[in-house]
Amino acid sequence: MLQKIFKKLKRIFNYVLGLFSNEMGIDLGTCTTLVYLKGEGVVLCEPSVVALEKETNRVVAVGEDAKKMLGRTPGSIVAIRPMKDGVISDFEVTEAMLRYFIKKVHRRHVLARPAMVIAIPSGITEVEKRAVKDSAERAGAISVELIEEPKAAAVGVGLPVEEAAGNMIIDIGGGTTEYAVISLGGLVYAKSIRVAGDEMDASIIDYLQKTYNLMIGERTAEEIKIRIGSAYPLEEELTMDVRGRDLIAGLPKTIMVTSEEIREALQEPVQAIVDASKATLENTPPELASDLIDRGIVMAGGGSLLRGLDRRIAEETGLPVHIADDPLTAVVLGTGQTLNMPLRLRRRLIVPTKLDF
Ligand SMILES: Nc1ncnc2c1ncn2[C@@H]1O[C@H](COP(=O)(O)OP(=O)(O)OP(=O)(O)O)[C@@H](O)[C@H]1O
Ligand SMILES: [Mg+2]
Repeated sequence: MLQKIFKKLKRIFNYVLGLFSNEMGIDLGTCTTLVYLKGEGVVLCEPSVVALEKETNRVVAVGEDAKKMLGRTPGSIVAIRPMKDGVISDFEVTEAMLRYFIKKVHRRHVLARPAMVIAIPSGITEVEKRAVKDSAERAGAISVELIEEPKAAAVGVGLPVEEAAGNMIIDIGGGTTEYAVISLGGLVYAKSIRVAGDEMDASIIDYLQKTYNLMIGERTAEEIKIRIGSAYPLEEELTMDVRGRDLIAGLPKTIMVTSEEIREALQEPVQAIVDASKATLENTPPELASDLIDRGIVMAGGGSLLRGLDRRIAEETGLPVHIADDPLTAVVLGTGQTLNMPLRLRRRLIVPTKLDF
């Protein structure tokens, strides 16, 4: 009885709060978090990084400020990426990060509790989904709906996902690469592998260590990948001076690396990404696969910007490959657009969570 009254009160309370609420779409990425505010567009784009005081776990900095501290913190502070290995690897820190970002975009609406659509990797478990929902609710959301990242990306790049025809998207992020074939608003086939941009960085670190005894950090590895990394021979090969620490002498050292070397270093993760594209096509029903011959594959996510990756996938799959106009915002734009959709279509796109109560 008391429980019933409590539930009813809670509903009324949430309803009243909802009157002040704003709707927002969030791409809670392993590298970058983006927020879309209904009626305003993309209002926040910051690294998914939190700096904590080691002893007390107090949050010292979030986002851009915290990223600057990665690999450079004094002993008493740690900068971490709470989403790094796929989904939420650190529950409490993710919540603190979300809370900070929500507060930042909501400064103008003090009373508001936002209704959220959050993009999640398609391969995550029910427990992981629950963790995302809980984090968002505890960070102040009045309601949370989840949408699979590749669906959001497909909506965001403007693919006609509600048509009865096959659309294929590959979203290469930091932690995961997501593959999806979508028709009639649903995922006909989805695949998620935990190989993406971070894995490429790790391969560069390994390569330089093995070949030159040179130790570099994650940020340097990412810079090398962005400046001279490739997945297909370049018309003009590139070079770059790389600074690190000599593992034997223990002293700082600079060496010159070429784009050919980095391509070799990236071979393994790139091949894994290409192979999973082929596996996705093999699992696509024939009618939809034949649609893809004309429509091709659309790539999104920061990893799709690796030089020549589009060409490599096109060559190995035999299909045309297009890179989204703005690969980094595709997912968040997709979450934003679902906020404006008619309920009927939105229901089809949103992931039902079994643990809802
Ligand atoms: N020009 C570029 N060339 C190669 N890689 C790039 C480039 N620009 C960004 N990246 C990489 O893209 C990745 C980040 O992409 P994105 O922001 O889409 O990831 P995310 O959404 O945070 O991660 P996820 O989707 O896995 O949760 C990083 O690994 C980054 O190094
Ligand atoms: Mg992403």
